[in-house]
Amino acid sequence: MSGPESLLPSSRARRAAEMEELLAAVAALGRDLLAREEELPGGAARDPGQLAAALDLALPDAGRPLAEVMARLRAVLLATPSSSSWRFVNQLFAGREPAATAAAMLTPLVNISMYTFKAGGAQILVERELLHRMCAAAGFTAGEGAFTPGGSFANFLALVLARNEALPGARETGVAGARLVAYTSAEGHYSVPKNAGLAGIGRANVRAIAVDGRGRMLPEALAAAIAADRAAGLRPFFVNATAGTTVRGAFDPLGELGDVARAAGLWFHVDAAFGGSLLLSPEHRRLLAGSERADSLAWDPHKMMGVPLQSSVLLLARRGLLARNLDESADYLFQADPDELNPGRRSLQCGRPNDALKLWAAWQRLGSQGWVARLGRQMALARRAAELIRSDPELRLAEEPPSLNVCFEVRGRASDAVCDRLDRDGLLKIGHGIVAGRRTIRLVCSNADLGDADLAEILAEIKAAARALPPGDNAVAG
Ligand SMILES: Cc1ncc(COP(=O)(O)O)c(C=O)c1O
Repeated sequence: MSGPESLLPSSRARRAAEMEELLAAVAALGRDLLAREEELPGGAARDPGQLAAALDLALPDAGRPLAEVMARLRAVLLATPSSSSWRFVNQLFAGREPAATAAAMLTPLVNISMYTFKAGGAQILVERELLHRMCAAAGFTAGEGAFTPGGSFANFLALVLARNEALPGARETGVAGARLVAYTSAEGHYSVPKNAGLAGIGRANVRAIAVDGRGRMLPEALAAAIAADRAAGLRPFFVNATAGTTVRGAFDPLGELGDVARAAGLWFHVDAAFGGSLLLSPEHRRLLAGSERADSLAWDPHKMMGVPLQSSVLLLARRGLLARNLDESADYLFQADPDELNPGRRSLQCGRPNDALKLWAAWQRLGSQGWVARLGRQMALARRAAELIRSDPELRLAEEPPSLNVCFEVRGRASDAVCDRLDRDGLLKIGHGIVAGRRTIRLVCSNADLGDADLAEILAEIKAAARALPPGDNAVAG
């Protein structure tokens, strides 16, 4: 049969045959994509207008044959940067754990939603196992947790839970006139003010607390700000400490900040979206010392652990808060099994994709010992990059890397211009950020597959791009 009627889902056998054909095509296309990673697929595709025209993205009236659909998918994917290329060091995530990628590719084949055991079956148990293990790593021995659609959202959920704890009744009657105040560092993630704007706190009621010379929030400045707000009749309620800041990879002193927060009776949240994975490393978890006394902690395995986006959790020190703040009766949905097996009672979403299986698969492959080795390798890579930069007269290291972020400049060249040029030429995806009043190039060593030769090649590309540019300065006004 040909024509539109052949596309109707009228025959299960035909659908199955189509799926079978696609599985083989997916494997072949996957192999092609991997083979192109060396050259940063899509690296030079910088003009959105030209790219849209070349790809012919319009949605057709008449369906296309499968082979043509696959050819079009191939063209789009080859025009997309791969974050597993050694040339992609632009983000806090890069590289992949193969078993996690395989699990992520397979997950939609069952396409369940994670609200009930009835709908999700074994996947619910996989998620429970992970949350249990991750709570233990955070030191939350009587804790609970939830997978969230990203670290920004985990931070949002923490803020809302803290708000409702601070204002009993807020869930029912709202927060009008509450005059709540939250605290984060001047180098904390932008999701904190954004979330305050959504949670009825107000962006103007988030204080950006000063940091020390290494980008860490100053406990005495936090204590002073809390005292000043109290004296002004406001209601401090939430401290967000960061374990792994976005630009510098710095770790706030969690023990001291937690002491300040607790002494003032405030909720203490740790945004460990980036650095939380280091909880699995006996050597590096000292960076998060004090997290075990927090009220909540956000952790993104999709950043340091090579798990495909999104894989994020919010962990809570005390059980019961999620259900207390998120449960709604929905008798059309929660019809079987105890609440404990129905995570929909503890999540904001109704339909929710399975973000757990890919992390579980990677953990099966590596074991806890494998994570230790992987994280150690990433940290060593950052130290090695710093050594190479320090010993190169053309480069200036901004600071010893606190974790995976290596911030530096090419002497006499504007960091933003260098990064833009590398992007335009399709050579390297790398970003820039401000460290101690200067704009620096930020090399993030998240890709555990990088080696010394790759680092040398990355630095060589950066210097070559910089030499082709006119002199420039990196001092940032203000
Ligand atoms: C410190 C920190 N917190 C939170 C986030 C937000 O995480 P996500 O991108 O998963 O929303 C980021 C993202 O880079 C981050 O660096």
